[in-house]
Amino acid sequence: MRILLASDHGGYLLKQQLLQQLLLRGEHEAVDLGAYGPESVDYPRYARQLCQSLLSGVAERGILLCGTGIGISIAANRYAGIRAALCHDEYSARLARQHNDANVLVLGGRTTGPAVAQAIVTVWLTTAFEGGRHQQRLDQIEHG
Ligand code: RB5
Repeated sequence: MRILLASDHGGYLLKQQLLQQLLLRGEHEAVDLGAYGPESVDYPRYARQLCQSLLSGVAERGILLCGTGIGISIAANRYAGIRAALCHDEYSARLARQHNDANVLVLGGRTTGPAVAQAIVTVWLTTAFEGGRHQQRLDQIEHG
């Protein structure tokens, strides 16, 4: 699977750690869309870049990070077709896939440690959408 990653400075370190782990696992292709250093940057720009790339079809999934994950998930969910889920635990990550078909996982670089983040990413990457009544609800989100 091709996975896009992007963060602001608050998520930079955790993004680098996740990139490294994804690279080591070798099961997925991870594409880093920045930020490329710890200097202060604005998260909406990185949300836009990742969401527009994902919607263009260049990858199947995206992972976004900022300090808390809150700002960048608010920004990402402004894009039609993006279902960004801020997760702090594996249970939420599982349900974000099974019920919400979340195509973007959001993590907080200042709120979630690397081991927990890695476990969340693994669950989110390996859990399938259940469809059925959940698809109906997603259709209501997209089309009213
Ligand atoms: C940046 O200081 C911080 O506001 C940002 O990373 C994020 O936590 C916003 O929601």
